[in-house]
Amino acid sequence: MENLDSLKTELMDAVNAAADLAALEETRITALGKKGRITAMMKGLGAMDPDQRRAAGQALNVIKDEVAAALDARKLSLEDAALDAQLAEQRVDISLPVRPEQEGRIHPISQTIDEMVAILGEMGMTVAEGPNIEDDWHNFTALNIPFDHPARQEHDTFYLPGDVEDRKVLRTHTSPVQIRTMMQGKPPFRIIVPGRTYRCDYDATHSPMFHQIEGLWIDERTHMGHLKGCIIEFCRAFFGVDDLPVRFRPSYFPFTEPSAECDIGCIREDGQFRIGRGDDWMEILGCGMVNPAVLENCGVDSTKYQGFAFGMGVERMAMLKYGIPDLRTFYESDLRWLRHYGFSSLDVPSLVGGLNR
Ligand code: PHE
Repeated sequence: MENLDSLKTELMDAVNAAADLAALEETRITALGKKGRITAMMKGLGAMDPDQRRAAGQALNVIKDEVAAALDARKLSLEDAALDAQLAEQRVDISLPVRPEQEGRIHPISQTIDEMVAILGEMGMTVAEGPNIEDDWHNFTALNIPFDHPARQEHDTFYLPGDVEDRKVLRTHTSPVQIRTMMQGKPPFRIIVPGRTYRCDYDATHSPMFHQIEGLWIDERTHMGHLKGCIIEFCRAFFGVDDLPVRFRPSYFPFTEPSAECDIGCIREDGQFRIGRGDDWMEILGCGMVNPAVLENCGVDSTKYQGFAFGMGVERMAMLKYGIPDLRTFYESDLRWLRHYGFSSLDVPSLVGGLNR
């Protein structure tokens, strides 16, 4: 019989030295396989006399169990190591920065709307929405624009096919969402409505599809002073000019009374505008106190409630703030334009963040 101690040492060393699962399997065959060292010695037991056989058999069994246990343990640790290696190799490094040329850009219209929502949201207004395909009643009649009113012509409306009485239109402004909001809920109302609007018009400053943001604030004591404060604060925050001059000019809208148009101060230099203190004015929005007739059309008691509304063009505000000269470029999907005028997706507008001043 081989020296059992040195056999055990030799086999254990081989197990621990096995560098991978294939080497370990070879070691197993060498030790415990059909023609393995331990198996061969087991077979040799038959030739011994009974006393010797029992002692040697017990000792061999102990070694066999120990080697088998060592093989199992080594197998587990090699499998672990193999899995770790695979995980390390297939790892996705999420800390790797995006390659700049693959990063998408936020469109200036989205960015401008986000900025407007950030400012007006801070004042306590929440975003409301309505359908782009509107009916004549919500778009005109309920807003105190009767059928024969000249304002209907001014809007250059896209009409959908159908009965003249209840035909659908592509909404010409976001004001119908005032109506939908007031019909659905109870005062007070404090909403802003960013969205698409449509008019049959196309040149460097007009597009058949454009964006507006509407504001509506109705409560028991809301007055013209609130309207002015809200608009002035909004303009100064949006353009980032703390002393921006803002003026209100009397105007007319069927759905507000009194109505005003709002201008901001600007300087005209070589055909270019600069927003701020100067001797020129730029019109940016329409506003007014909501006409009691509109409140009544929506079932709101006009003897108890009153408030203001305003509406402005998003593209126009974006053009003024970011110096974009042609409205049509907003919709051309030119990637060079978007790379130039677009915003980083991490550049989320907020008042504390400074709104890209
Ligand atoms: N709806 C008007 C327009 O599109 C803007 C406006 C909204 C004016 C609210 C007054 C009050 O021109």
